[in-house]
Amino acid sequence: MKAFTQIPKLCLAPMVRIGTHPFRILALRNGADIVYTEEIIDKKLANVERRENHELKTVDFVHKKDEKVVLRVSSEEKGKVVCQIGTNSVEGAVKAALMVKGYVAGVDVNMGCPEYFSVHSGMGAGLLEVPDRAKSIMQALKETLEVPVSCKIRILPKEEDTLEFIKAMQSVEVDHLSIHSRIREEFSRGYAHWSIVKKAMEDEKITIPIRASGDCFSINDAIEMNKYTSCEGILIARGACHNPAIFKDIKKYWTTNSQNEDLKEKAKYLYSEHKKPLNECGLENLAEKSEILNQLKPEATDTLSKSQAKKRAKRILNKMKKSSSEQKGADGKQSKILAKMIERRNIGCRKVDIIPLCQDYLKLAIEYGNNFGNTKYTLNYMLRTHKDQEVVFNKITSAQNMQELAQAITMDDFYSKMVSRQPSLKSYFDNTFYK
Ligand SMILES: Cc1cc2nc3c(=O)[nH]c(=O)nc-3n(C[C@H](O)[C@H](O)[C@H](O)COP(=O)(O)O)c2cc1C
Repeated sequence: MKAFTQIPKLCLAPMVRIGTHPFRILALRNGADIVYTEEIIDKKLANVERRENHELKTVDFVHKKDEKVVLRVSSEEKGKVVCQIGTNSVEGAVKAALMVKGYVAGVDVNMGCPEYFSVHSGMGAGLLEVPDRAKSIMQALKETLEVPVSCKIRILPKEEDTLEFIKAMQSVEVDHLSIHSRIREEFSRGYAHWSIVKKAMEDEKITIPIRASGDCFSINDAIEMNKYTSCEGILIARGACHNPAIFKDIKKYWTTNSQNEDLKEKAKYLYSEHKKPLNECGLENLAEKSEILNQLKPEATDTLSKSQAKKRAKRILNKMKKSSSEQKGADGKQSKILAKMIERRNIGCRKVDIIPLCQDYLKLAIEYGNNFGNTKYTLNYMLRTHKDQEVVFNKITSAQNMQELAQAITMDDFYSKMVSRQPSLKSYFDNTFYK
């Protein structure tokens, strides 16, 4: 076993629409060591023009066709921002990598996206099915870039397949790898299977540094995740939306460890009494689950009659839809399921004061001319698990422009001051500045 004794790197996980410049800066200012961009599809990145933005002091990657900002980076992120790309080919990956070469601290390939559009075109989790292609892509990126090259995978239904895939990535000298420990069909539902990360860390043939992703919502989770898996880093996604200061909170715990025995005891209690999420890692279980979920695919129905398969698929689909809309819908209602889960996992931790963090985020979004739709989506995501902020959540949901977002969280004065000093910001909010 690779005894990983250092404090794990705390990373803002890649998140579409959320991991744009202001949220990454917010995470860094709140203790994140590394921040991943949202996934950017290679074809999009290959079609951008790089522009120095002297007004905002950023480097903008602007799409040639619609003039939209595809990626915006600034010097505050230097050495810490990893660009995640979505790709299905060596050529596409290399073109995208060359575009960001010299401007990012690493390039990561998304091999975990379970969405149909991604898998269907051989990107995201689709790459897990073609290890040779995944290897060629990673090898080509290694040859193209001097900065670390990594990939983020999901687990496969059979443990040995996941370990084999990791070894395949290691064979082409990928610098590190992240595991979102759920199978593709699970999306973000149920508990993450941390045991696979632990198995990979214990496998003597696996030496590549591994970062764990999935269900780190609190200091308790970070302590337990690190102790249980010995991972080299932790990627935090939904937990960072609920509390963008989670990185700082975890670090504070780690650096003043001895003074926090009480919290440690609570974490121990939480996981030993409730045996979650470590109790449901049986791999046969996973393979079985995957098989059932695969009934949704028409080609996997040979053993069932057509009508049986249809009924079964409908049943599963309805179940999935119900929990998925509840879990996913940042633009709809607050997420009660997720809020409850986060609350339980935060036993013993201080309550998160989310409004000042939303204000910090909005300040950055205004200062850096972030697009309105994206800003609204992120604020919704930050608030959706805070049951006590339903009124603000609803105001954000009905906001039609940046000014209304600012009003919803009492930032009107800041908005007015910034816009009167720099009227061009308004066109950035509409994403029309370069037109
Ligand atoms: C809103 C949202 C967007 C996401 N976008 C991406 C993405 O662009 N690339 C990626 O690899 N994973 C993406 N993920 C998955 C997360 O990076 C992470 O692996 C997953 O949510 C589990 O971690 P968590 O329990 O900390 O949320 C996304 C997750 C969320 C919630």
